[in-house]
Amino acid sequence: MSKDLTGKIILEGKEYEYPVIVGTENEKAIDIRKLRADSGYISFDDGYANTGSCKSDITFIDGEKGILRYRGIPIEQLAEKSTFLCAAHLIIYGELPNEQKLNAFREKVAGRARLHEDFKHHFEGFPPKAHPMAVLSSMLNSIGCYYPEMSSNNREQDLEQFDEAAALLISKVRTIAAATYRMSQGLPFIYPRKDLRYVENFLHMMFTEPYHPYNPPKEVVDALDLFLLLHADHEQNCSTSTVRMVASGGANMFASVSSGVCALWGPLHGGANAAVIKMLQEIHDSGDDGSRFIRAAKEGKARLMGFGHRVYKNYDPRAKIFGQAAERVLKALGRQDPLLDIAHHLEQAALSDDYFVERKLYPNVDFYSGIVLKAIGIPVDMFTVMFAIGRMPGWIANWKEIAETSRKIHRPRQIYTGSAKRDYVPMSQRK
Ligand SMILES: CC(C)(COP(=O)(O)OP(=O)(O)OC[C@H]1O[C@@H](n2cnc3c(N)ncnc32)[C@H](O)[C@@H]1OP(=O)(O)O)[C@@H](O)C(=O)NCCC(=O)NCCS
Repeated sequence: MSKDLTGKIILEGKEYEYPVIVGTENEKAIDIRKLRADSGYISFDDGYANTGSCKSDITFIDGEKGILRYRGIPIEQLAEKSTFLCAAHLIIYGELPNEQKLNAFREKVAGRARLHEDFKHHFEGFPPKAHPMAVLSSMLNSIGCYYPEMSSNNREQDLEQFDEAAALLISKVRTIAAATYRMSQGLPFIYPRKDLRYVENFLHMMFTEPYHPYNPPKEVVDALDLFLLLHADHEQNCSTSTVRMVASGGANMFASVSSGVCALWGPLHGGANAAVIKMLQEIHDSGDDGSRFIRAAKEGKARLMGFGHRVYKNYDPRAKIFGQAAERVLKALGRQDPLLDIAHHLEQAALSDDYFVERKLYPNVDFYSGIVLKAIGIPVDMFTVMFAIGRMPGWIANWKEIAETSRKIHRPRQIYTGSAKRDYVPMSQRK
């Protein structure tokens, strides 16, 4: 709260004065919490594009300048020097772990990878073609039932179990994701291995066959680790706000992150990476090189998936980092894919087209991540699941922030635009 700054709102000739809140990076907000009580007015902000829903210590984004920092540390530095698990520790606990703490965290995560044998039958209840995001969301909620001491919906108790639950979710989201894929392919589940690192273990559970271990190239492991790190948190986006909303009612972490998965599923959010590949495939199948699609996007008849962002209006720093990583991994894998040529063409054409330049529409991280995930053999249906694995530390940290600091249930208001009061019509008189 700033002592000097206040903001005034004049409504129907009457002036109301409210304090101004200033963040670490000098971002400012007028605190209108008392506006309705004072004046009868609420603020209206459809889509919340101009609403600060909370104070948070976790992630800072400056969309105009293309800045993303986890706990103050620039994403560029973390991408170069850190790993996903190290960044997860930073996001959840606020500090980079020293060697001892990192090893302990790693061990805790590795030790919780296995699913309870009784849990496996849950997978059998789904049809083989069930979308992996539907399965993942259900499984994350169900898994809380196996750990009632961590999912009591009693904040004090759930917080006491926080370290256990956090490591468990980071570990098991990966096991569940791999098991979902194996189920969809009619393949046997592969048990996790304690000797493998986080990403290697995931790839092992995805692609190892009985009597035929899968040994991924280093470039694939590095690219996937970077993908997860770049997705680990992103401030008050749709899914994180959902996690906080659910948590604000007192729900446990398992239920809260499960709802985050549902929010992430949509094509305007986490589903965009899969939508990019679908779009590229459609362009390819129609015999277009991307030019016709760009024209359609400009006429408002199509949307260039993987372009544009609600907060990044100059460039997405994650896209810059992952675009370079994409070049490296594709070169190392030596993959020839006609969809990649179309992607390059779209990227170049859009970056030099006035329509996209004027609207500040640049490739976002999903544009490149879809291409890389495809190249390393992750099925398109699993793309958004990969995003969910990456986002888990952010959801966990945001759940913790709510559980520790917020005593208020989140409850926005609305402007009602339906029918005015009218009387009930008996069935015999209805038209
Ligand atoms: C991300 C996204 C939802 C942000 O939306 P937003 O900030 O609400 O922006 P708007 O939808 O208001 O779009 C602003 C203008 O740009 C245009 N636009 C935005 N994204 C566009 C896209 N991907 N392709 C073509 N035109 C686009 C809109 O049609 C609108 O044009 P207008 O001013 O002539 O009406 C949007 O850019 C989008 O749908 N992108 C594709 C999906 C995607 O990649 N999502 C992942 C985000 S990480």
